[in-house]
Amino acid sequence: METFLLPANSQNNKKAAELLLKGEVVGIPTETVYGLAADAFNPEAVKKIFIAKGRPQDNPLIVHISDMSQLEQVASDIPSAAYKMAEAFWPGPLTMIFRRSPLIPDEVTAGLDTVGVRMPSHRVAREIIALSLPLAAPSANTSGKPSPTAASHVYEDMRGRVPMIIDGGRCSVGVESTVVDMTGDVPRVLRPGAITEEMIANLVGAADTDRAVKVGLAEGERAKSPGMKYRHYAPKSPVRLYEGAPEDTFDAIMNEETEGRGVICFEEYKKALKEKGFKWVYSIGQSWNHAAHGKNIFSVLRRFDSTKAELILAQCPREFGSGQGTVNRMRKAAGFSCIACSDKTIIGVTGASGSGKSRFSAALSGALGDCLLLDADNIYHGLLGDGKTPLCEKILEAFPNAERDGVLDRKKLGAIVFADKEALKTLNGLTHPAVIKKTLYDIKKTTHKYIVTDVPLLFESHFDRYCTMTIGLLADRKKARARIMERDNISGKNADARLNGRPTARLYTKRADLVVNNDGGVKELEKAASSIAAKYLL
Ligand code: TXA
Ligand code: MG
Repeated sequence: METFLLPANSQNNKKAAELLLKGEVVGIPTETVYGLAADAFNPEAVKKIFIAKGRPQDNPLIVHISDMSQLEQVASDIPSAAYKMAEAFWPGPLTMIFRRSPLIPDEVTAGLDTVGVRMPSHRVAREIIALSLPLAAPSANTSGKPSPTAASHVYEDMRGRVPMIIDGGRCSVGVESTVVDMTGDVPRVLRPGAITEEMIANLVGAADTDRAVKVGLAEGERAKSPGMKYRHYAPKSPVRLYEGAPEDTFDAIMNEETEGRGVICFEEYKKALKEKGFKWVYSIGQSWNHAAHGKNIFSVLRRFDSTKAELILAQCPREFGSGQGTVNRMRKAAGFSCIACSDKTIIGVTGASGSGKSRFSAALSGALGDCLLLDADNIYHGLLGDGKTPLCEKILEAFPNAERDGVLDRKKLGAIVFADKEALKTLNGLTHPAVIKKTLYDIKKTTHKYIVTDVPLLFESHFDRYCTMTIGLLADRKKARARIMERDNISGKNADARLNGRPTARLYTKRADLVVNNDGGVKELEKAASSIAAKYLL
């Protein structure tokens, strides 16, 4: 069979819809991964998908819809929470499992009495569905291989097996949709993805995650979702996964032999790993960037198939937020061959001035019990001491005008760097490494299992790379202003000046593993700290 790879446009989308209406299989783009689509009501068409993919017959397909009126055609007994979730997350990377409608053939559900439904957000996918029918579509890879996130990946796997592939560009999410079982008491995540359990719980009050997601299936255990039981996403060479803080996983890989080995790493370590002698070093993005990890992981895994790497060593992202989906796929790609590299749990807490970092850090430390609480500001002040310490000498070398009576004058130093970005950069270049060094020294010495670090410049100083978890505190500006005025006994004008000098909420929502909104009172902040401790750490 000849396979046409065509760019998405109204003419080609229409051709794809026509083929689908005739019972053919077409590769189509979605925002998560490319899908291999067929008419969801046509058993003969659906059978062709299983053949093209080499997919086990007992693994059901997801039905893709383009508007809400189609939901009731394909599913029944839809709980009200599902409408809420559809309203919030559709179109988007969420699949919900319902009782199936009698219109959906056994071939789609692999004989189950339930059906997975998703409304993709990709414009091309929705257009093709709207022009045809609800479409049953698994990921468009050969079964077992990494999912395709570009049309070229689909072509690699499906050339000669399907008549048409529509190229809609690279997938923006890159990891398959979150699969959530809606047939029980609370929504239950069966496959993690960009829509997280927390997002669902925040919306409908409660949600949980099937145990098998984290640890794999136990011997003889029955899979809630048939997809759980297959080895997935695997490149040709075996993968070994290094878990922990980015610096720790980097150190562990740097200690390995390089011969015949490739590395999947974070962008900031790429250069050093190449210099070490690893021949194939592919980055999935900066260590904090969960969205980039999701977008890049499958294409990086696929890239290894055209190398001679005998073993792939991979830095594992932190498992929070949408990172949970990526980590789940990487563990599966590694066949659960995972090495824990961090012996201590280091939590970096940051946020704007007046956001409640210190109070939150103290509460979190209290909730964890066996915990050392470190404050980067205190460490910094300790390092400046009486103005004559080694750090002060270094600073005075760079800023001779900050001297008064033979010692470093912090007020003078402050005035110099306040209005001069270059000067501040120079100063940070001296102080950040010193503070990090002392913090790491204190961490090394402690016997506590947990370390909570309160670091106002967590991301700016790159201390986040030493953390196994990062938390960003956010506060409404008015509240933060009032807190600073009260705490430091300063005017509104001075509080504004301080707030203006700090980054906006965006830095924290973008970079932190978890974000805590501190818009309520102290009690609520303490509650947030203990629930994070209980949920992620204890
Ligand atoms: O993002 C996605 O979901 C992509 C794009 C193309 O939409 N599709 C996708 O499909 O990843 P697939 O077939 O590769 O994965 C579907 C997963 C499988 O793990 C399957 O077992 C599970 O969803 N699933 C489907 N229907 C189910 C059902 N009725 N009950 C439990 N699990 C189901
Ligand atoms: Mg798949």
